Amino acid sequence: MEELKRRINELKKRRRAIILAHNYQVPEVQDIADYVGDSLELAKKAMKIEADVIVLAGVYFMAETASILNPDKTVLIPNRHAGCPLASFLTPRDARKYKEERPGAPLVLYINSYADAKYYADYIVTSASAVKLVGKLDEDEVLFGPDKNLASYVAETTGKNIVPVPPNGHCPIHEYLVNKYWVMKALQEHPRAKLILHPEAPPEARRLAHAIGSTSQMLRAIGELGGEEFILGTEEGLVYRARKMYPGKKIYPVNHRAICIDMKKITLKNIADSLETMRPVVKVDERIAGRVREILEESFRMVG
Ligand code: 13P
Repeated sequence: MEELKRRINELKKRRRAIILAHNYQVPEVQDIADYVGDSLELAKKAMKIEADVIVLAGVYFMAETASILNPDKTVLIPNRHAGCPLASFLTPRDARKYKEERPGAPLVLYINSYADAKYYADYIVTSASAVKLVGKLDEDEVLFGPDKNLASYVAETTGKNIVPVPPNGHCPIHEYLVNKYWVMKALQEHPRAKLILHPEAPPEARRLAHAIGSTSQMLRAIGELGGEEFILGTEEGLVYRARKMYPGKKIYPVNHRAICIDMKKITLKNIADSLETMRPVVKVDERIAGRVREILEESFRMVG
């Protein structure tokens, strides 16, 4: 491990590279990263990076986003098979079809989607910005995809008519392993703990939460809510970062089995290899990238 870390640090200097890691990454990857954050923070960070190379320690759509925002930089994903089952729920063909079916309703896409589907979006949001952005739209009917749970959370908080596209898109980790059953079990095990949930969790689970937000908003909620014990309802990787930020507090995952295998496909070994070989590079066709860049920049501008 020490030898790998030394190699990565040396290669980073040689390549003028920086490592961006998502909050779900394994501890040693979080520790070697230059910056760790939620999807919105990683995308914003990617907009003002001074480096030649970005290593995206996360899943493929995150690397696509970094690449779209940095057409002149080389973006590497250490394992090209780090996908996202939620993003795969929406094909570009369906995105176009949903828009054609309801021309008056804007299509708001979660950043957890692929660039060729994002091409058809009117706005792009993350779990941190979805409520704020949709709340600002003039239209009452809004198409939202691909996560039906985030869609219902946005509907509950904004009071708008949110149409989930497709009707059943979800993150399997949140849908099956951070649902009401697992949340109730965790609350029984830790009756004094406050529950903080990600909005990708199903509505019945969300109703039991003391706070709801993106992964970084969940981390901030630990400090804001006060108290000594917390249950985090999302992928278990967030618990490592939370314990590091709040060493005095007791922090538990809702479910030890809530592990996203795609996020865990990034390792120190493949980061080192990727920096050595400068592969795999993530590059989005400029015809798609140019349009998606405009939507991302406008959507980020709207939420500040
Ligand atoms: P955030 O880090 O933006 O909350 O997104 C997490 C995620 O991708 C959940 O699947």
